[in-house]
Amino acid sequence: MWSVLAGVLAVASLGAACTPSVTTVSGTHAPATVCSGALIFADDFNSFDLEIWQHENTLAGGGNWEFQYYNNNRTNSFVHSGLLFLRPSLMSDQFGEAFLSAGTLNVEGGEPADRCTNPQWKGCERTGTFNNLLNPIKSARIRTVNSFSFRYGRVEVRAKMPAGDWLWPAIWLMPAYNTYGTWPASGEIDLVESRGNRAMTLNGVPIGVHEAGSTLHFGPYPVLNACDRARLIRRNAAGYHSNFHRYQLEWTPDYLRFSIDDLEVGRVTPGNGGFWEFGGFNSNPNIENPWRFGSKMAPFDEKDTKGCHDRKPPRAPAGWSSLADTSGVKTSLRDGAPREAAIDPPLGNPCLRVLDGGLRIFCWEYRLNACPSDLAEGTATR
Ligand SMILES: *[C@@H]1O[C@H](CO)[C@@H](O)[C@H](O)[C@H]1NC(C)=O
Repeated sequence: MWSVLAGVLAVASLGAACTPSVTTVSGTHAPATVCSGALIFADDFNSFDLEIWQHENTLAGGGNWEFQYYNNNRTNSFVHSGLLFLRPSLMSDQFGEAFLSAGTLNVEGGEPADRCTNPQWKGCERTGTFNNLLNPIKSARIRTVNSFSFRYGRVEVRAKMPAGDWLWPAIWLMPAYNTYGTWPASGEIDLVESRGNRAMTLNGVPIGVHEAGSTLHFGPYPVLNACDRARLIRRNAAGYHSNFHRYQLEWTPDYLRFSIDDLEVGRVTPGNGGFWEFGGFNSNPNIENPWRFGSKMAPFDEKDTKGCHDRKPPRAPAGWSSLADTSGVKTSLRDGAPREAAIDPPLGNPCLRVLDGGLRIFCWEYRLNACPSDLAEGTATR
């Protein structure tokens, strides 16, 4: 749900009586009972309810040395006219350019709402050096980890992707309780991820703003993640940054089905051997299957622990990916695509507008123009 928000709708009929649903929920803002077909979560962003949306506050960079510092600041996340905007800004605008290579930033705060939310990968304090700049971009990622999570149902997020090199917008559902262990053992459902590059290609195929992907991450431990077996892509000639689209997930005890604007992109349906077999892990007898006592949908089932699987913090549609870890970015540099790194100050147009199903999501179109090579090169050293 991240920069965008996701609306979660359970499937079903709108009959008068309450037909029990297979959907389970938890969280401070979850309904007490779930009837089949009922809307169980929605946000129209007429106000920015931080009782529902918790901001990430960290320099961690998602384990990929991504460039952003996620923070709670109304420059980087705000609602306006019923839209949620996630808008990046330059760290140097606030702290000065020299700070990136010499300053120390500690993001731990004393108030409950100001605590650092992820200490991994030097996420709470960093000191910049010539070779390892402090995160050059400020952005936002919000999540419903304490307010709402669910298992099985339908999600629809209407969103507009940002454009600009190195932007890595994402809307995910992350496990609330890690029932099967830490990532990726408990799974990760990527409703949509895109890349902001306007001119990025791989083997002649556009893979920037013209591509939207949905992926499942699952495996017994990080280097054994079978995401390649559950990656679905759709291309759009106009680019996903040019219009709002509805990104949809139908998650049932039998399959996960992804659609965009009501057109199915694909579905993942494990056989009786579950995701262990689907991921090809059964060929290695030395690894214990963490899902062996779960259903065939494990880790994408998470039983009665209330709701689990999803909640996702959408990474702001404005995450900056690391050159070291994103092949697409390397490709773009090789291909001589514009190296944009400067952010036009007032930044873009509202990106998103949603209304159906009671949800709206937004983000901000991020325009990066010709770019100061210092930022491009500096970040490349990460
Ligand atoms: C919020 O972000 C803006 C832009 O970077 C900055 O000028 C301002 O100082 C920030 N506010 C706080 C409290 O850090």
